[in-house]
Amino acid sequence: MPTRRDMLKIAAVGAAAAVLPLERIVSAATAAEPVAAIPFAHPMPVPQSLTPSARLRTHDLYDVTMRETQAEIVRGVLSPVRTYNGQFPGPTIRAKRGRPAVVRQTNALGVDTSVHLHGAKLPADQDGHPTDVIAPGGNRTYTYDNDQPAASLWYHDHAHHQEATNVYAGLAGAYLLGDGQEAGLGLPSGQFDVPLQIRDARVEQGGALVYTRASARPHMLVNGKERPYFAVSRNKYRLRVYNTSIDRYLKLRFADGRQFQQIGTDGGLLPAPLTATELALSAGERADIVVDFATYAQGASVVLQNTAALATENADVLRFDIARPQAPQLAHVPRRLADLPSMAPATVERSITLATDPVTSLYTINGLTYDPNRVDVSTPLGTTEIWTITNADTAVPPPNFHVHHNFHTHLANFRVLSRNGGPPAPGETGVKDTVMVAPGDTVRITMTWAGHKGKFVYHCHQLPHAAEAQMATIEIT
Ligand code: C2O
Ligand code: CU
Repeated sequence: MPTRRDMLKIAAVGAAAAVLPLERIVSAATAAEPVAAIPFAHPMPVPQSLTPSARLRTHDLYDVTMRETQAEIVRGVLSPVRTYNGQFPGPTIRAKRGRPAVVRQTNALGVDTSVHLHGAKLPADQDGHPTDVIAPGGNRTYTYDNDQPAASLWYHDHAHHQEATNVYAGLAGAYLLGDGQEAGLGLPSGQFDVPLQIRDARVEQGGALVYTRASARPHMLVNGKERPYFAVSRNKYRLRVYNTSIDRYLKLRFADGRQFQQIGTDGGLLPAPLTATELALSAGERADIVVDFATYAQGASVVLQNTAALATENADVLRFDIARPQAPQLAHVPRRLADLPSMAPATVERSITLATDPVTSLYTINGLTYDPNRVDVSTPLGTTEIWTITNADTAVPPPNFHVHHNFHTHLANFRVLSRNGGPPAPGETGVKDTVMVAPGDTVRITMTWAGHKGKFVYHCHQLPHAAEAQMATIEIT
């Protein structure tokens, strides 16, 4: 059984991480051996949907308490985790466009927290800013307008210097925003619409969930369970695939090379479905896909694998067991999904360089580390811009992943214009809020800074980098 000491271990390592880049933490990972996991030993849970504590005339009210509990991540082992409402990952919030959700968050943890709704367009004071924290014992209420198209969003911790450890310890959950346009398409819904939150972990003997570098994290989790199986029927499933890892790059494919349809990206539905066999997702990115399990016989199984797995881990992520006959289902994937918002011509161009400082080894944006009191960029409300983002670091072979970076903006979603001078990858042609920027890559994106004035952050979504602080501020004036 995990002891109080194990819980403190999370906290102690968290504090160390505020000053030490993750890849340079070695001691914690060698304290004990990781638990040997038995693949496909437990069923994949579908996180419960959060029930509103009140449905009022103008909005739905939700109550969430952030607290420590224990979760069975690896079968037979209890690990101390930080959770929203005791669930690992957090409960799924299902919201509807035009119907605000008000979420009352109480912090019953021993660390500062800040709840960011990733991908949402919100006023600065509702955005979960890194320095706008909820102290231990405190609470605050976030109002989510839900004034944007249907998308697979997620909520996660963003307290400055604590975000990486807090998310790693469990403070993350899905937020599925729906709208009437999407509902009219006839996509798989109900039990056939399932979020898959994929992340890695290191669970040690005794149960401690240890925060350490990627190459020392051998456990791959889906919805909080180590390599589970998911029993499906011979039907079409809409899978909302999330990379909720703190810093891993995933390349997912079915072991048999099976095709699926990608219907959405971070910020919502694509104009038309794409046929694909592989999904590349950096930390924080999402893809909405439809898989037709009627192409399998009842009794068959297929494993979803990560072809970007490290040498230290098993590539298997999740086994689908086609266990049940076809259930009556009217769902289909129409050829036209949604119109992408038109992009205004840009009037401002900026360059962003993501790099490792050669002297301090700190991760930087344009040579600087995050200073919450500094405004890095300011722009008038409504300005459309093009940002050219370059990863100036050089690739080094695994297990050193610290030179991978990606890029995430608050407030404004963006579109990818080009990657290394060529067209963006098909899977990144829709509305995005996070984009991979591999070593040496240059990605051009365009966004309109509209909706709200105030200060917002943009950062690398490899959260240990953001925590260290590869993050900067834009002020909308
Ligand atoms: Cu998902 Cu600023 O974060
Ligand atoms: Cu980075």
